[in-house]
Amino acid sequence: MQSHILKTNEFESLLLHKAVGSWVWDTNGKKYLDCESGMWCVNLGHNHPKTVEAIKDQADKIWHRNKMFLTPATLEAAERLLNFLPNDYDKITFLNSGSEAMEFSISFAKKVTKREKVLSLQDSYLGAYGQSKESSFTSSKQSKLKIRYPICDKTDCDCLEKHKESIDFIFKTNKDEIACFVLEPIMVSGGIFKPCASFIQYICEKTKNVGGLVVIDEVTTGFGRTGKKFGYEIFEITPDVIVLGKALGNGYPVSAVITQSQFETKCSSSELYYAQSHQLDPLGAAIVNSVIDVFAEEKILENIQSKINLLDSFFRSLTHPCIKEVRSFGMIFAIQIKSSSNMTTEEIIYTIKNKLLQEGIIIGYSTQKELIRLLPPLTIKEEEIKILKKKMLKVLSSI
Ligand SMILES: Cc1ncc(COP(=O)(O)O)c(C=O)c1O
Repeated sequence: MQSHILKTNEFESLLLHKAVGSWVWDTNGKKYLDCESGMWCVNLGHNHPKTVEAIKDQADKIWHRNKMFLTPATLEAAERLLNFLPNDYDKITFLNSGSEAMEFSISFAKKVTKREKVLSLQDSYLGAYGQSKESSFTSSKQSKLKIRYPICDKTDCDCLEKHKESIDFIFKTNKDEIACFVLEPIMVSGGIFKPCASFIQYICEKTKNVGGLVVIDEVTTGFGRTGKKFGYEIFEITPDVIVLGKALGNGYPVSAVITQSQFETKCSSSELYYAQSHQLDPLGAAIVNSVIDVFAEEKILENIQSKINLLDSFFRSLTHPCIKEVRSFGMIFAIQIKSSSNMTTEEIIYTIKNKLLQEGIIIGYSTQKELIRLLPPLTIKEEEIKILKKKMLKVLSSI
């Protein structure tokens, strides 16, 4: 029956039919530790009981309506999410996917500034289609507006000095055309890279000085993934627009665009007009409310660091001829693979992925970036980390 499904990507042959916490089960009853959190979405674990309850409760009331009507669940989610943010924002809309919210945000920045050019970093992934794809590394379209950036974790670095001239040149030559700088705080699809903070602060300052907006793509880095509530906090910057997705719905497709009324007022109502069938729907909003509850109740931020440390020290302790480098940020881990005398990088990546799957461990991978990748749920338990370590060592020693 798989033959009926359009092959938009590769599919494993097993079928999943159940999920709880860090685990998913196939139709034969075999269970797998999901070290990808679905598609990096279930930060709170699969089928969190509080979210299941919120879905059932809201479904009993109303889950969809005409765009003319708002619902109490939507208003509650809007207010609570705005309060959840570290900075002051007073405007929000709920959409469905990260890509949609990124598209909306870039269009919004263009409407606010009446300009067209979008700056991004070279390795960003900002969405699956449209303008956000165009500004991502996955687009074949070359652009001078995709900025090369220094990777750095220091505070007293000379990164800015080295790159200042090229940044100044971009701003000088595009001064009156820059609508926004769109930043993915940690390049996750792009290979797990953290750009230098002073470099980022400089671009944000320049963007605002020329009248552009700073748009932060928190689709993957939001809700604790980096060890902070939001990835942009690492850079001590104040975004004009924040985009949330993935973990916002803990696996349910709801996303959000957050901004300030000072920008909304720069657009006419016809410019702002946007309508799709499920925008601001109450089911997604009820889920957002439950995610915010669980995040606080389970003290996700307070509890995550010890688990990050356990995983980080384990991955960094791995020594194997096929491991080139380990990169990590918060609960985001990449193991860069190198070829051996008898296997290509691609063969090694597929072998590790397949053998781990047989052992009941789901990991992510990118043959293009030559790495395997793990973004486990933030709620992963210490005993689950032990299982992952054991299986990983077993698989690596067999290669
Ligand atoms: C940083 C970032 N932005 C945007 C997106 C697009 O989100 P979605 O897949 O929900 O459309 C993704 C998806 O992986 C992402 O990682």
